[in-house]
Amino acid sequence: MSPTMPTSDTLTARILDLIAPLQLLLISFLALPRAFLSAPFLPLNDLKAFRSLWFATVWKDLGPQMALSPEQTPYISSLFSRAHGTVLELGPGSGDQMRHFLRPVNEGNVARVVGAEPNVALHERLLANAKAVGLDPARGRYIALPAGAEPGSLIPALYKAGLLVNTSSDSGIFDTIICVKSMCSAPQDQMEQICTTIHTLLKPGGEFLFFEHVANDTDWLAMAWAWLLGWVWPLAMGNCHLNGRMDRVVEEMGPELWENVDIGNTKQFRGWNVLRYVVGVCRKGD
Ligand SMILES: C[S@@+](CC[C@H](N)C(=O)[O-])C[C@H]1O[C@@H](n2cnc3c(N)ncnc32)[C@H](O)[C@@H]1O
Repeated sequence: MSPTMPTSDTLTARILDLIAPLQLLLISFLALPRAFLSAPFLPLNDLKAFRSLWFATVWKDLGPQMALSPEQTPYISSLFSRAHGTVLELGPGSGDQMRHFLRPVNEGNVARVVGAEPNVALHERLLANAKAVGLDPARGRYIALPAGAEPGSLIPALYKAGLLVNTSSDSGIFDTIICVKSMCSAPQDQMEQICTTIHTLLKPGGEFLFFEHVANDTDWLAMAWAWLLGWVWPLAMGNCHLNGRMDRVVEEMGPELWENVDIGNTKQFRGWNVLRYVVGVCRKGD
């Protein structure tokens, strides 16, 4: 067999990778009746709120399982262990990754966490999970904001919560900004503004840490499959996109914004995967 010929193991892995998104779609559509029954009139009154409720119904089952992924946990855990001081997490969902904040290595380093989670249907679980890991919302150690990462949503929410007070003096209020698998759901056409805002909100020497899936832009089969799935994926998966471009935007804006940028594929990526996971650490200059 020629060295370039795929082995049967590779073919099986590749087929399984193509099927994996279909399983997630199936789980999401199976949760649709449950979401509908919990609020039958919501789709008529507020379709956007119903989509949030649908995703929250899916994520309450899926989030805790996905947060245990043995391939992803070491990367995510190591990012969270870098977090310190006042932290902003973008898109924390129901807080299934929060346990990593308080790993022994990080104990005492995190003073307070602000979670910008636009899906308010997840907030109850988010606050309960924060309390469970010792970031008690009642003691001001966790604040949940009903906001997305895009500046038009995040900045007013920070003002409303009293975290930003005065635009001229308020650049730099967070020591760490972190996001895990959430920027795929943020508006991709605002990624440059999101990155600039993240940079502005960090204190000098602060770090932006991310674990995200982004577009596979090299394998034609993965690209075609992502394009096809893209017709239904955002609808069923809480506005998630398979053509995320956070890595590219950060790399392109890198030298302009960051003192240091380190982005790499995870070991999970074998060239053909539709979901290409990347890990990034960006440091703002002092
Ligand atoms: C796949 S879930 C990941 C949740 C969590 N980070 C985790 O890993 O368990 C994606 C999250 O991004 C949130 N999200 C959606 N739109 C967003 C936006 N514009 N900015 C930030 N987060 C957003 C969703 O509500 C959801 O909670």
